[in-house]
Amino acid sequence: MEIPTFIIWLVALGIGFLAYRVSRRSILDEIAGPASKSVLLGSMPDLMLSEAGLTEFSWQERYGDVVKLKGPLNTDRLLISDPKALHWILQTSGYRWGKSSDRKEISRLVGGKGLGWADGDSHNRQRKIMLPGFSAPEAKNLLPVFFSCASQMARRWSDILSGADDQTHIFNIPEWISRATLDAIGRAAFDYDFGATEDHETELGKAYQGMFLKVFGKPSKAVLITLELFRFIPPSVLEFLNEHNPNPRIAHVRHVAEIANGVAKRLVKNKSDALLEGKGRSDIMSLLVKANAGDDVNAQLTEEEMLSMLRQHLVSTWFSIFVISLIHWLSFSATLTWLLYELVRNPKLQSELRAEIRAAEKVAVSRGDSELSIRDLEGMSLLSATVKETLRFHPVVLHIYRTTREDDILPLSTPITTMAGDVLTELPVPKGTRAILSISAYNRNKTIFGEDAHTFNPHRWLEPNHIKKSGGSLGPFANLATFSAGIRACIGWRFAVIELQAFIVELLSNFEFSKTPQIDRIRREVAIAVVPTVEGEAEKGNQLPLRVTFARKGEE
Ligand SMILES: *[C@@H]1O[C@H](CO)[C@@H](O)[C@H](O)[C@H]1NC(C)=O
Ligand SMILES: *[C@@H]1O[C@H](CO)[C@@H](O)[C@H](O)[C@H]1NC(C)=O
Repeated sequence: MEIPTFIIWLVALGIGFLAYRVSRRSILDEIAGPASKSVLLGSMPDLMLSEAGLTEFSWQERYGDVVKLKGPLNTDRLLISDPKALHWILQTSGYRWGKSSDRKEISRLVGGKGLGWADGDSHNRQRKIMLPGFSAPEAKNLLPVFFSCASQMARRWSDILSGADDQTHIFNIPEWISRATLDAIGRAAFDYDFGATEDHETELGKAYQGMFLKVFGKPSKAVLITLELFRFIPPSVLEFLNEHNPNPRIAHVRHVAEIANGVAKRLVKNKSDALLEGKGRSDIMSLLVKANAGDDVNAQLTEEEMLSMLRQHLVSTWFSIFVISLIHWLSFSATLTWLLYELVRNPKLQSELRAEIRAAEKVAVSRGDSELSIRDLEGMSLLSATVKETLRFHPVVLHIYRTTREDDILPLSTPITTMAGDVLTELPVPKGTRAILSISAYNRNKTIFGEDAHTFNPHRWLEPNHIKKSGGSLGPFANLATFSAGIRACIGWRFAVIELQAFIVELLSNFEFSKTPQIDRIRREVAIAVVPTVEGEAEKGNQLPLRVTFARKGEE
């Protein structure tokens, strides 16, 4: 770290805390889990530095769905993938399980004081303002936008393929996908064209590209300990320190935030000008302006009302949506990248999907439509199964961090046996208990998703009885933990599902994807989102090179 005094101060605090900890025992001491490898870091390096999910899967296999592990400075963590406990923490408890101050600071650094940072009433208020923009009909209305962004990329690829002697080209998938999906987000949320697909060097795109990897990839020991110490520092002091912290990772986040701020300001100006001219009223932001006009006001706002609403009341909301969109964009483009990765490893699945797309296209053409409709997509069962399986198998966010604000009793799907031999059907946890909710381990639950849960198999969603309900269903989609659940569930999940379908239809309809020699060296790197890197070439950033050729247009 760059500021030695900063660190010395933090370490001193840490030692004081350690001394305090040693004198205290709790029920958490009785829960089984991996032995700590070091007092400084505990088992966190195993969790954060291994390939995505692998450590958790082995712990889940060995210790079950509630695992006690040591975090930095000998602090306790519960790693939880038990369905009932997750349901309780995320859906039943409301704001009682919240973000600890260190996690809040990470949210603030990445996304400002928006929805990800806010808690309690202020979170509730922001969420209520935004929900109308993210309903099912709005998501469905955006299908043509998603198709047009996907086909813009397809046209560029076609040009490149046509120009090549053998009509084939190797594309670095994450790079292209993230540009096309940035454009999709811009148009869906703000009716704004970033022009990323056409132009390599969008300032914002460049800044965000690879941000996860640069900032959160392979955290060093110093970073892990510093994060742990964040929570002993009063939030305002911490904010001040981080605004001046010369550490390159933090500096990079600040740099990205500055660029985002600049773009956001330009967009607000653009939006208010457009609304004044009576244009561009179908995007999420315009919908929100209308939806939040209040009941007593006529649905037809005057221009002035609209403008003042936009400039005053909604500017913070607006920025929050902007940030959510960017986070959504990064997670979405990672998910689509992993989907394509699976399709080249399963050529049979790829051609089955293409056959389903061809059949649907035929029906659409006979209707006189040039594009598939939402109804068409809903009728494509293999496509829908593949999207679900990708979200299950490749959740881009592996962990949700929560801390309980009160003493609580966690209900459990499966009783746990303590090290003293007691069987607990529920687990009493003291106030301040820190939990790491494991999305990846829950999504691999064999009782729910089948004995082959560790295999990528979309057909599980099509076979009756392959998938069991876990009692209450978790999360907004397909009983998966991928979009989180409850009041903090991902607000844009419907957009993600429809956008994935649109991109896959467009890409598979036009192209065939196949392996390159690097495919066996692809590593699932944890950097808040799980991104692909090539083993031994981490310095090159996100990489998934795939060979692309034209798909035959006739029958498969
Ligand atoms: C807003 O941005 C769009 C591009 O998405 C552009 O065509 C339009 O002219 C801009 N409007 C204003 C008022 O700047
Ligand atoms: C999976 O889910 C079932 C049903 O909710 C639960 O009883 C079980 O403990 C979970 N864990 C595993 C590893 O199957």
